[in-house]
Amino acid sequence: MASSMILRFPGVAFITGAGGTGIGAAVSKAFARAGCTRMAITDINKASLDHTRDAVLAINPKIQVTAREGDIQDDKFVESLADQVRDTFSRIDYAVNCAGILGKDQRSTETSVADFDRINGVNYRGTWLTSRAALAQMLRQEPLPEHPKQRGAVVSIASQLGIVARPGAAHYCGSKAAIINMTRADAIDYSKDGIRVNCVCPGVIETPMTTGSADVTERLKPAIEIAPMARMGTPEEVADAVLFLCSERASFIQGHALVVDGGYTIN
Ligand SMILES: NC(=O)c1ccc[n+]([C@@H]2O[C@H](COP(=O)([O-])OP(=O)(O)OC[C@H]3O[C@@H](n4cnc5c(N)ncnc54)[C@H](O)[C@@H]3O)[C@@H](O)[C@H]2O)c1
Repeated sequence: MASSMILRFPGVAFITGAGGTGIGAAVSKAFARAGCTRMAITDINKASLDHTRDAVLAINPKIQVTAREGDIQDDKFVESLADQVRDTFSRIDYAVNCAGILGKDQRSTETSVADFDRINGVNYRGTWLTSRAALAQMLRQEPLPEHPKQRGAVVSIASQLGIVARPGAAHYCGSKAAIINMTRADAIDYSKDGIRVNCVCPGVIETPMTTGSADVTERLKPAIEIAPMARMGTPEEVADAVLFLCSERASFIQGHALVVDGGYTIN
């Protein structure tokens, strides 16, 4: 990377779905490597969240990292987490919403209301709740002197399946399309406040979500093979796009859905 493209991250990063070895964990580690020294991370899985906290501290032991487990579908949890982040750090500069679930392959007529609610509860409602909490905090704070025109940046992880569709995934595709258009609507509403709101639409990425079971790996094969680059992406490749969108290098990028998909959606 040219030195003029070095990204700097003064201030506080807030990352959901940060546990384990997926995209949220890669984003947390990428912030740490890029010099961010204050971070709040959350996930429903405490053990995997602790794993990410340890990985972040292994990169830089001086990083102040708050790790708290909980369910992002629960508005009371999200409110209490936001209060904790405010008490600890007084601000959120980069909010990255990564928590999400995939669910079973099933057409709408085979999908129960409970399955629909579960997917949309985490992917759409959860992302809305954590975005909303971050936006509320950003509205209370002044921009950092290092980027006086940016009060805050929100980046949510949607999916290539928010743009195009595939068989047996109406509930998931709908939940990700919702994130893309929520991103646009929030971008319109908060532009005047100096807050940028964008999302990233990954293709098939090698994470526990896609490699956790032989069944899922098998059903994703056609999606990998049809993409021009014909491989899975890595969580780090998605994290690079996220950090760019959070940074002041993306200062005129607003309400965008950036595909990181090896060309899947151009086919
Ligand atoms: N891996 C892919 O191919 C791919 C493609 C497109 C989009 N995505 C999206 O990327 C995001 C990250 O997925 P990943 O691939 O890293 O998978 P992952 O399973 O490794 O990460 C998702 C994380 O979210 C956490 N989580 C799940 N439900 C939660 C809840 N209710 N509250 C809080 N945390 C919760 C999980 O514990 C997990 O750590 C998801 O939104 C997913 O839909 C992934």
